Amino acid sequence: MLQENSGHYARALSEQEIEKLSKDKVVLSEFKRNKLEIEAKKNWDLFYKRNKTKFFKDRHWTKREFEELANYSSKCNKKPVLLEIGCGVGNFIFPLLSEGTEFFIHACDFSSKAIDLVKENSLYDPTKCNAFVCDATKDSLSEAIAVDSVDIASMIFVLSAIHPDKMLFVLNNIFKVLRPGGMLLMRDYGLYDQAMLRFGPGHKLDEHFYVRQDGTRAFYFSEEYLGKLVTEAGFKIVSNKYVSRETVNHKESICVPRVYIQGKFVKPQLSDFDNTS
Ligand SMILES: C[S@@+](CC[C@H](N)C(=O)[O-])C[C@H]1O[C@@H](n2cnc3c(N)ncnc32)[C@H](O)[C@@H]1O
Repeated sequence: MLQENSGHYARALSEQEIEKLSKDKVVLSEFKRNKLEIEAKKNWDLFYKRNKTKFFKDRHWTKREFEELANYSSKCNKKPVLLEIGCGVGNFIFPLLSEGTEFFIHACDFSSKAIDLVKENSLYDPTKCNAFVCDATKDSLSEAIAVDSVDIASMIFVLSAIHPDKMLFVLNNIFKVLRPGGMLLMRDYGLYDQAMLRFGPGHKLDEHFYVRQDGTRAFYFSEEYLGKLVTEAGFKIVSNKYVSRETVNHKESICVPRVYIQGKFVKPQLSDFDNTS
């Protein structure tokens, strides 16, 4: 696992929060951590069996945050290709499809239950998209999609669900199918997000890595950690920054400071290495 030496945070913690985090040092036993890793797919399948399409909201903000999705200028005549990894029930892809995106969309998830729900959506059209089951920590994406063929890849709150030791494999897997000059767009949970601070004892798996009640896991990224990881996978960083949002928890009548991390990472092309001109 990469070590981080971070110094830049999205929000200042209160004394109470610092004390809570510093006390929470106990991690679950190796047996329990291994069991969660082995049962990762099963736990997400159960999550989608229970919640169906009702849990995550449609990601209507993606064209605003990632202008590449809104005005994609293809340099050749072929239809541009988008690959969404960990698509869940399609909260990222369906808003794009309903607005008439120019991309052909491949979407994968390791939960077959999630992929079934994607295919049951009335907006699912096999001439415009292709949903398939794939465990990005094990299966080679290049078995389903040609090497160097994807223009844009996206991962929205997905890398955080993956064991830190397997994150580099996932990024390498995506790197292989992206075309040179292609871009990976990411949004995920940021360090000191309120959800991280709310975990009680018995939920810590490792530094910045926690398990929820339902067995699904969440890693909270610092800019430094994500930056090192994508660089190690061969990407060039275009942007990598915290995004802070205040959301209102109506049930508890409180403002919740959410911290996300958002990045754009490019697969270099040959001309990037050419210093002769
Ligand atoms: C927090 S959900 C996000 C879903 C979707 N991207 C969205 O924005 O609504 C995380 C998703 O990652 C998927 N996932 C976790 N580990 C995976 C893996 N190894 N390979 C493929 N998908 C995975 C889960 O099944 C789940 O659908």
